[in-house]
Amino acid sequence: MISFILNDQQFTTELPPGSVALDLIRKAARLTGTKEGCREGDCGACTVLLGIPQQNGMKYMAVNSCLLPVGELRGRHLVTVEGLSPSEGYSPVQSLIVNEGASQCGFCTPGIVMSLTGYLLSTVSPITEGAIDSLGGNICRCTGYVSIRKAAELLCSKIGPSPALSPESPLHIKWLIEKRIIPPFFEGIESRLNEIGTPESPDVMDSGMSDVIRVAGGTDLFAIKAEKLKNAELLFFSRQPEMNGITVKNDHCFIGAAATVSNIMDSEVFNCIEGFSRIRRLISSTQIRNRATLGGNIVNASPIGDLSIIFLALDSVALISNGIEKRQTRLKNFFRGYKILDLAPDEIIEGLSFRIPDRNTEFNFEKVSMRKHLDIAAVNTAARIKVENGKILEADLSAGGVAPVPLFLKETSSVLKGKLISSDMVLLAADTARQEVKPIDDVRGSAEYKRILLGRLIAAHFIELFPDLVNVKELL
Ligand SMILES: Cc1cc2nc3c(=O)[nH]c(=O)nc-3n(C[C@H](O)[C@H](O)[C@H](O)COP(=O)(O)OP(=O)(O)OC[C@H]3O[C@@H](n4cnc5c(N)ncnc54)[C@H](O)[C@@H]3O)c2cc1C
Ligand code: FES
Ligand code: FES
Repeated sequence: MISFILNDQQFTTELPPGSVALDLIRKAARLTGTKEGCREGDCGACTVLLGIPQQNGMKYMAVNSCLLPVGELRGRHLVTVEGLSPSEGYSPVQSLIVNEGASQCGFCTPGIVMSLTGYLLSTVSPITEGAIDSLGGNICRCTGYVSIRKAAELLCSKIGPSPALSPESPLHIKWLIEKRIIPPFFEGIESRLNEIGTPESPDVMDSGMSDVIRVAGGTDLFAIKAEKLKNAELLFFSRQPEMNGITVKNDHCFIGAAATVSNIMDSEVFNCIEGFSRIRRLISSTQIRNRATLGGNIVNASPIGDLSIIFLALDSVALISNGIEKRQTRLKNFFRGYKILDLAPDEIIEGLSFRIPDRNTEFNFEKVSMRKHLDIAAVNTAARIKVENGKILEADLSAGGVAPVPLFLKETSSVLKGKLISSDMVLLAADTARQEVKPIDDVRGSAEYKRILLGRLIAAHFIELFPDLVNVKELL
């Protein structure tokens, strides 16, 4: 039995932990405001808020309920569009959508209300750019986005900044209640969840766990085989505190494998790495980033996994455990063939560690996909380059979509070492990269297109990082 709070009511279900929250909401709880569209995390019609108790308050995030296993709800707060509606009239988010004509058939509207409310719950300084970005995972097929963007813009200008220091603070919740963004019952949720309690989940380090399916964010697993997982035995990594942290010791950073893309992008250490602020929007949508984890991206081993490419270029070390013994391997040696990994069935990745780039080290990530938001790459690439007086001391470049694995560009990286940065040097690096890879024709483009694209993206790293040392015209 799984107990949690659904809107303002305690709810207990006997559904298996592997069934998805969308079915619980619409079929078991009969709350049909949450819509069912693609069931693959693409449309955002099923967006809900998941509230997780923290040390001092609650953290709320927008997630796709079609990819959210019911087992993740234990001891947590699930909010649907019905739970945001005031007893009379509309919330300000709903009113703005109505007043701006941002809804026609209305199918996408509950998801949009949830995403905008989720944005206000997750920031103390709402800005238009952030509100619009929060809608990157919500597709509308009939209204068009101009009026939806207008509603988001007006929302930010009307609400202003929160008096709280952090979005998890009870003061922030109080402020949003005063602004009628969320109903008053949100204030009592934390203590009500404490009363429900969360039974301990099995220890991830117990031996004999190799038959259990490990669920990190579930965005790969539930998008691909939700039906098969319904009655499977699952282990939820989000409940393992040691796998969720991001810590810095001396000049090294350790990231728990269950840290999500949002956790990584919001962390102090990544905000200090120049070049990282641009990356967030290149990876999927807010709803997916709030669930997708580092470990899931690496073990899924998609040749175009964004985090795999980023952490390859950061020359990361994977920390691996089977519950009894621990070992380490460099990510560069981890991907051995298409979906073949240096990971035994009874092993898990506990986390990654890498040296934080120093002030002479530049980092950049480039990605080309068919559409800007919510799309996986045709080709992606990352570069970590240490330079002194225009000379390259260290270089680690990686590329996705051009081989059966997320690829460390060994030859390109080695060609760069010791060279002075110039347009000629960049052309040599781009040429080496084109020769080093073996792309295939697929729906994302022909092998030749991907080869040419990679060369252009290698040049883009240098144009972005060293604009004074290269001549853009010579690189085109
Ligand atoms: C709509 C949509 C958009 C997407 N967009 C992008 C995108 O832009 N870029 C991108 O790179 N990816 C994208 N993805 C893919 C996916 O979100 C990422 O690969 C994500 O990082 C997977 O992490 P997860 O935690 O959800 O993995 P899960 O689905 O939980 O797990 C994936 C696999 O890894 C295993 N696993 C997870 N963690 C560990 C661990 N620590 N040790 C051992 N095994 C483990 C699981 O058992 C499972 O086999 C998208 C997916 C969807 C549905
Ligand atoms: S139903 Fe489309 S994202 Fe969930
Ligand atoms: S209003 Fe019809 S899909 Fe958005």
